[in-house]
Amino acid sequence: MPQGKTSDHMKPILAIYPGSFDPVTNGHLDLIERGTKIFDQLIVAVLRNLEKDPLFTVQERLEMLREVTRPWPNVEIDVFEGLLVDYARQRKAGVILRGIRAISDYEYELQMALMNRKLEPQIETVFMMPAEAYSYLSSKLVREIAQLGGRIQGLVPPVVEQRLRAKVPQGTA
Ligand code: PNS
Repeated sequence: MPQGKTSDHMKPILAIYPGSFDPVTNGHLDLIERGTKIFDQLIVAVLRNLEKDPLFTVQERLEMLREVTRPWPNVEIDVFEGLLVDYARQRKAGVILRGIRAISDYEYELQMALMNRKLEPQIETVFMMPAEAYSYLSSKLVREIAQLGGRIQGLVPPVVEQRLRAKVPQGTA
């Protein structure tokens, strides 16, 4: 049994890592890799949000996530809509995993975690920090840089870089 994971007498820990992932960045991947080491199973769940105006369709985001998480057999990619706690309950997950890059993330994340706890006290939110190198990285900035023709190399996995180039053909991304 790998270090940090459930031993024989304990229940396996199923965690959900929810988000928009529009698109998945190297910061998300860093967190996913860390998650695979401490949870038995990790579901990366893409929110189907009808209000937002995404760059990538949910289908495209799922495809990219499936491709970049192939190295980890304990990662599953899924999509959800509605309340996160309802989805977590339905999947029988005990943990919600969220990344915190800087103090500025904390206030919103704390509010969400406490609201989710109010809605479903049985589910714990676990915060993890990605590597410092990714502390300034976000999907929103990646989208903006790509759309304005900037370099996104090293910020996203190569497959995402290609897809961004295809979406924004006039750029030099
Ligand atoms: O990647 P994001 O956009 O920061 O992810 C936000 C996400 C998907 C985790 C959050 O918006 C969410 O959980 N939405 C589902 C609806 C819900 O449960 N809302 C109440 C949160 S307290």
